[in-house]
Amino acid sequence: MTWSAECFATGGLAACRHALFGMIGRIGLISPKRSLDAMALAPCPRRRMFGIMQVMLAEQRFVPTPEAAGPAFWVRDIAVYGRAVLSPMDGYSDLPFRLICRELGSAMSYTEFVNVDELRSRKLTGKAWTKLRYHPSERPMTFQIYGHDEDALVETAARLQDLPPGRAPDIIDLNMGCYVKSIAERGAGSGMLCQPDKIARVFTRLTQRLRLPVTGKIRLGWDEHNRNYRQVARILEDCGASLIAVHGRTKAQAYQGAADWDAIAEVKQAVQVPVIGNGDVRAVADIGRMRAHTGCDAVMIGRAAIGNPWIFAGLEREQVRPADKIKLMRQHLALNLDFYGGQTGLLLFRKHSAKYLRGLPGEEALRIPLLTCASVAEFDDLLGQATGAAAGEAARASALTTGHPA
Ligand SMILES: Cc1cc2nc3c(=O)[nH]c(=O)nc-3n(C[C@H](O)[C@H](O)[C@H](O)COP(=O)(O)O)c2cc1C
Repeated sequence: MTWSAECFATGGLAACRHALFGMIGRIGLISPKRSLDAMALAPCPRRRMFGIMQVMLAEQRFVPTPEAAGPAFWVRDIAVYGRAVLSPMDGYSDLPFRLICRELGSAMSYTEFVNVDELRSRKLTGKAWTKLRYHPSERPMTFQIYGHDEDALVETAARLQDLPPGRAPDIIDLNMGCYVKSIAERGAGSGMLCQPDKIARVFTRLTQRLRLPVTGKIRLGWDEHNRNYRQVARILEDCGASLIAVHGRTKAQAYQGAADWDAIAEVKQAVQVPVIGNGDVRAVADIGRMRAHTGCDAVMIGRAAIGNPWIFAGLEREQVRPADKIKLMRQHLALNLDFYGGQTGLLLFRKHSAKYLRGLPGEEALRIPLLTCASVAEFDDLLGQATGAAAGEAARASALTTGHPA
C-alpha cells in the first residue's frame, strides 16, 4: 500500500498506521519490520512516535557522545555536554528538527518561543502546547516563553514547572529578543529591554517561585542609542538568572548588519553565569572563532543550521555526501509526518526542503516540484529521483578520479 497524506483522512486507523510505518521503513528511517515492532510496542500515538525516535536514535548515532569529557558548562545544577546549541526559532526549532540537531551534536534544546497567553487552557493540547512537547533524549530541555504581563509570566512558568514528568522542562527561558512590532511594542520580547525594572521584578519573582533554573535570551538593546546589554546582563545575574544568551544585535537591527561579538565579550566579562553567544555563526569555523573572540561558554546557531544540521557535527554543507543529505531529508520528513500528521507534516517540511536542497545535484529541477507536491508518495518519488541524480554525480566524480566508470 502506498502511503499518502490522504490516507489519514480516508483510511481506517489501522491501515493508516500500517501504511505510515511501512512508509517510514521504506524511506529508510527504520526497517519495516522494526517499524512495525516499534508500533506494536507503543500503542498510543505519542508513545508510538517516541518508539520510532528511539529506534532511530539507537540505529543512527552520528556523533560520539561527548559525555566522557565531562560537562562543558552548567546551567546552575544542570550539566551541558557541548558548546554548540540550536537557537530557538519560531516555525523551525520544533521537535523533529530539534531531535535531528540534538542527535548531530547540539548540546541542549530550546523550544520555539511560546506566548504565555496561549498556555491558559487546562488541557495540554493546541498549537502552543504542541510546541512544548519534547523527546527525553533532548534534555536538558528549555521551554522559552514570552509575554508582557508579569503575573502571567510567573504563573505560567510555575505551571510549566509542575507539568507531569516527561512534559515538564528542565529550564525556563524568557525571550527578551523578539523584534516583531506587535510583540516588542507591547512590552514583550525585546520590548522588555526598555524596562530594566520590569526585567528585575520578573526575574526576582521567577527565581524565587521556581525550583527550576531560569534563563534569559536578550539582544543588545532597543536600538543603537539604547544598547543597555551590560545593565540588563547584570540585572539578570543579580536577580537569579542561571544563564544569559546574547544575540549580538539590537531590536532595530532585526537581522541586518554584523552581529557585535565585542558586545557579547563584554557581557561575558560582566557576569559570572554562563553566557551563550549568538549571531552570525555561519560555518563550523565560526563556532571556535566566536568562542575565542568572546570567551562565551557556548555558541547558539540559528539560520545556518536550517538545511545544514550537520554543522553541529562539525561538517560544512559541502562536506556532506548528497546521498546522506537525502537520507536525512527522509528521516526528517518521517519525523514530521509522525509528529504533525500527514498533510501538516508535509506542508511544514517544505521550508526545510528548500534549504536542504541547496547544492544537491539536480537542485534546480527538483526545487519547484518538491516545494509544491501535495502527497507524501509524490515527495518520496522526487527524493528517489534526487537519489538517482546524486548517484550519477558520484559515479561521474569517481570516473574522473580513477579514470574508470564506477
Ligand atoms: C525564523 C526565525 C525564528 C526565530 N524565532 C525565535 C524564537 O522563537 N525565540 C528566540 O529567542 N529567537 C528566535 N529567533 C532568533 C534566533 O534565535 C537567533 O537569535 C537569530 O537568528 C540570530 O542567530 P543566527 O545568526 O545564528 O541566525 C528566530 C530567528 C529566525 C530566523
